[in-house]
Amino acid sequence: TPVLASAREELSGLLSAARREGERVAFVPTMGALHDGHASLVRTARSATTGPVVVSIFVNPMQFAPTEDLDRYPRTLEADLEVCAREGVDVVFAPGVEEMYPGGFSHDSVHDGVTVAPGALAAILDGASRPGHFDGVLTVVAKLFGLVRPDVAVFGEKDFQQLTLVRRMVRDLCLDIEVVGGETVREPDGLALSSRNRYLDADQRRSALALSRALRAAQDKAAYGVPAARRAAMAVLDMEPGLELDYLALTSPDLGEPPETGPGRILVAARVGTTRLIDNLPLTFD
Ligand code: PAJ
Repeated sequence: TPVLASAREELSGLLSAARREGERVAFVPTMGALHDGHASLVRTARSATTGPVVVSIFVNPMQFAPTEDLDRYPRTLEADLEVCAREGVDVVFAPGVEEMYPGGFSHDSVHDGVTVAPGALAAILDGASRPGHFDGVLTVVAKLFGLVRPDVAVFGEKDFQQLTLVRRMVRDLCLDIEVVGGETVREPDGLALSSRNRYLDADQRRSALALSRALRAAQDKAAYGVPAARRAAMAVLDMEPGLELDYLALTSPDLGEPPETGPGRILVAARVGTTRLIDNLPLTFD
């Protein structure tokens, strides 16, 4: 079973012996409410090192706008520890807000200090709908990287823009961490696992399925080019009145303009009731 650390000194104490012996530290940052998607990232981390695997559980207030679901975000530490035990995690770092933001967190006061500016890539897609979100994500990830000092860190493709921005931060700030992407884990019917799925009632759950179905439809038509792929996805989304579409985007694999031929990405975000859901898939244009 993993050791639970909530203070920075405990965490570094737990990792110092492994580091002295030159073992690689693998890290999976999370906000808890762990599901099979998280578990699959942990398995990737577990297979990346014979040294310690660290999972952090921290619901980061900085990446939630004041209007968002910070207070109702699920907190399930007991169950999370069981998942970590099952997957061979060595250390769970579950700090309080005070430990990560000494003096307490407020959106105003945090910007009196130094934060990570995520750049142009954070102005599009989810960043356009959630101003400041990726400032919060990259700032807390940078702090967690400083505390854990991992050799390898695993992030899910589910949050593709987040994964892309973390890679970019590591490159631009010369962090010397190997970032590994993990494939999105889905329900048998295609719905991407998400901590927010638990907010959905049965009707909303059915509506939510249109997201993954739209992406697959686009994948199937991608050989006919970008417009055909987009039309195929829109046809599925238009048929689902329970969805309020935020964006449907076809891009290059690094979120630039889509190529005429070759690999690309399709990304979608929509609201079902008050719950905002995202999904994405790779595709190949021809
Ligand atoms: P959270 O939403 O808890 O997600 C933690 C990690 O699990 C992320 O890398 C996310 O992409 C991945 N993940 C979520 N659902 C997945 C699925 N169905 N399949 C595969 N991986 C999945 O993302 C965050 O937390 C936070 O922004 C964080 C990076 C921890 C910073 O606060």
